[in-house]
Amino acid sequence: MIDAHCHLNFHAFNKDVDEVIKRSQAAGVERIINTGTKLDSSAHALQLAEQYDNLYAIVGVHPHHADKIEEEGDWVGQLKIMTNNPKVVGIGEIGMDYFSYHSNGIVDPKLQKSVFEQQIMLAYNTGLPLQIHNRQAGEDVIEVLKAHRNYLQAIPGMFHCFAGSMQVLKEALNLGFFIGFDGNLTYPGMAPGETTALSDIAKYVPLERIICETDSPYLTAVPHRGQRNEPQYVILVGQQIARLKQISYEKVKQQTIKNTYTVFKRLK
Ligand code: NI
Repeated sequence: MIDAHCHLNFHAFNKDVDEVIKRSQAAGVERIINTGTKLDSSAHALQLAEQYDNLYAIVGVHPHHADKIEEEGDWVGQLKIMTNNPKVVGIGEIGMDYFSYHSNGIVDPKLQKSVFEQQIMLAYNTGLPLQIHNRQAGEDVIEVLKAHRNYLQAIPGMFHCFAGSMQVLKEALNLGFFIGFDGNLTYPGMAPGETTALSDIAKYVPLERIICETDSPYLTAVPHRGQRNEPQYVILVGQQIARLKQISYEKVKQQTIKNTYTVFKRLK
């Protein structure tokens, strides 16, 4: 399997990142893509990618940091320099988020939109695909993407950890995006504020457009829910997709690996 979105670059893995990577390799995870959420975590994702052959990086600024990033000066220029490294395979996680978290209120949507748009242009200028973050902002994310249709690649990228309505899903698929699923696909019921069950979303998306990921250290799949997540548990995501689609895990594994290479052309 490939874990197309996780955060071994986060503090949660400071002490044992090497063991976590070895466990994932032993479990059969052939590639791991670490995604940045601001400049320092993007740089750390790249540093890990340089250190380990099977690790790659996606660099970008998450909407939660849209109100602080201007303080860092020419942040787009700094991201652009990182993309010169061939182990950077995409721009992410970028997008919009209207969910109010305990740790983070809702950042001014105008700032979120501006930071998102600047990074769509960075992706255009570097020829890299997007890795989109959306939480309860699906309509606005789609609107921004449609307005920038001329600046999207033929294969524009993926929605990471998809959540949203069937309408948003259909629009994302129509724009050519692939759809990422995580361990929360194994959770019963619906996440707060959502109106469409993830299992229904996963059943609807053609296997040819699905990508597996973990979002480690978050969203740990059942039966490890509540513990820190690790890339090795991407296998549980693949197994859940197989169950929902009533097809073999082997088929899910082969196709989602192929899909990940299709979207992230720098992945080797
Ligand atoms: Ni993430």
